[in-house]
Amino acid sequence: MIRPKTEEEIALMREPCRIVKECLAFVGERIGAGMTTKEVDELVYRFIKAEGAEPSCLGYCGYPASACVSVNEVVVHGIPDGRVLEEGDIVSVDLCAYKNGFHGDGARTFRIGKVSEENDRLVRVTEECFFRGIDGLRAGTPLYDISYKVQEHAERNGFSVIRSYTGHGIGREMHEDPAVPNFGRKGTGPRLEAGTVICVEPMIAAGGWRVKVKGDGWTAYTTDGKCAAHYENTLVVREDGVEILTL
Ligand code: MF3
Ligand code: CO
Repeated sequence: MIRPKTEEEIALMREPCRIVKECLAFVGERIGAGMTTKEVDELVYRFIKAEGAEPSCLGYCGYPASACVSVNEVVVHGIPDGRVLEEGDIVSVDLCAYKNGFHGDGARTFRIGKVSEENDRLVRVTEECFFRGIDGLRAGTPLYDISYKVQEHAERNGFSVIRSYTGHGIGREMHEDPAVPNFGRKGTGPRLEAGTVICVEPMIAAGGWRVKVKGDGWTAYTTDGKCAAHYENTLVVREDGVEILTL
């Protein structure tokens, strides 16, 4: 069931969402070649704790870290470890903060030094997919208009959208209804009501959309080994548009 939030609930969500936004910027200023994905996770953990919040991912369904750090062919849910970031890598950092009884959720894909022309375009198009997806979004919009717009922009650029992971509602739980797929048919799905809070998160692959999950039960990677990128924000559907809480 999709339950729109009250203004009181939305007010409480601003703080965890602000922390997500600032944490992503903090990571973006520091991430670079020579750093391990574990060190990225430590930055996230310390930042969130210093804000008096909790890293929602840590312990979620047994997830062992505060952030998902997904390098190159890893699409999402990369578990931070000793992998050293190298020039040319693209790295998605996805994190959630819990404060005031609510979660905020966001992700960015960072370029490590100079990246290939294709990876540069993949990161840019993935961000564009988010903004295309929410273009015109307001109370009354059919949910899968978002999905359609994300898919159209990705495929027009020769990329594919990941099928097996979606965006989602968010609030007192990290994942609430509705699921927000990155592919779909225009004009279909439930009409979004004002006050609905969702995470729109294009996950776009340079090659095919097929993914597998490693033996660790989390790390999702493209079966063709091509790179993938990810970009996510938490937003409120308003009568006249959207309010992005993590940007
Ligand atoms: N932040 C992710 C999302 O966008 C969820 C991460 S799964 C976790 O839905 F286990 F790492 F928490
Ligand atoms: Co999310």
